[in-house]
Amino acid sequence: MGNSAIDLTGKCALVTGGSRGIGRAISMCLASQGARVAFNYLRNREAAAEAVKMISAVGPEPLELRGNVADDDHVERMFTTLEKEFGKLDILVSNAALGVLKPVTQLREKDWRWTMDINARALVTLSKFAIPLMGDRGGSIVAVSSLGATHAIPFYGAVGASKAALESLVRHLAIENAINNIRVNVVSGGAVDTDALKFFPNREEILEESLKRSPAGRLVTPQDMADAVLFLVSDLAKMVHGQTLIVDGGTSVVA
Ligand SMILES: NC(=O)c1ccc[n+]([C@@H]2O[C@H](COP(=O)([O-])OP(=O)(O)OC[C@H]3O[C@@H](n4cnc5c(N)ncnc54)[C@H](OP(=O)(O)O)[C@@H]3O)[C@@H](O)[C@H]2O)c1
Repeated sequence: MGNSAIDLTGKCALVTGGSRGIGRAISMCLASQGARVAFNYLRNREAAAEAVKMISAVGPEPLELRGNVADDDHVERMFTTLEKEFGKLDILVSNAALGVLKPVTQLREKDWRWTMDINARALVTLSKFAIPLMGDRGGSIVAVSSLGATHAIPFYGAVGASKAALESLVRHLAIENAINNIRVNVVSGGAVDTDALKFFPNREEILEESLKRSPAGRLVTPQDMADAVLFLVSDLAKMVHGQTLIVDGGTSVVA
């Protein structure tokens, strides 16, 4: 399913949380345009092995990097391997996320820190290592966010706050690095039916409501998210810096 307008041959990409769901669709999309993809994951080795097969079927064989994006030592180790194998980086997609789903007043300090570290602070650490590897050529960073950054969703207080922080970090990273031709943007999605939704006590309700409220009449798919990432990392978006591209079939603009 390659897009003939975009050629990523010779580019190297890192996709965090790239073994399942939206991250896997992004990894496959970038690989199918010719990029060498390193994908990261945390625990699920079976999903990672499956991702290797699926990515290899559409593009260059991927590099698998296991590690927790919230752990600075793990991130450093992943970048040591990445630099050894790829020697450079052109694209970083910060997609991995986890979080505690609770009403705000039930959040414990460790729930808050854990969620913030994985979903927001990871972008700081990843960028610190990624930007030097982009060097004088420049590059593109995309963070994956959700409508919970700007809208209230039941049980989503900690994750929503972490996504709001993520989107703000993107704007700041964007202005700090634009002069070096490094573009930093966000793709934010409406509900996508991935494994992540299984952790919501109200999964069925989220899916039904999202479908009912979507002006486009269908749910967002992992491929929809991947296509938006592909646009943002491509030269077609060469003057797009610090923006949030919302992929929700129009749901968030309904009055
Ligand atoms: N699903 C939605 O409705 C939706 C909507 C809008 C935006 N998003 C965003 O899209 C992104 C992907 O979501 P998804 O639904 O595709 O999730 P998913 O299916 O649960 O997949 C999550 C991926 O992230 C990895 N991961 C989780 N925590 C990690 C950590 N600390 N370090 C490294 N890797 C980690 C997982 O690895 P393991 O397999 O090893 O656990 C897996 O590869 C997230 O940023 C999410 O907020 C999702």
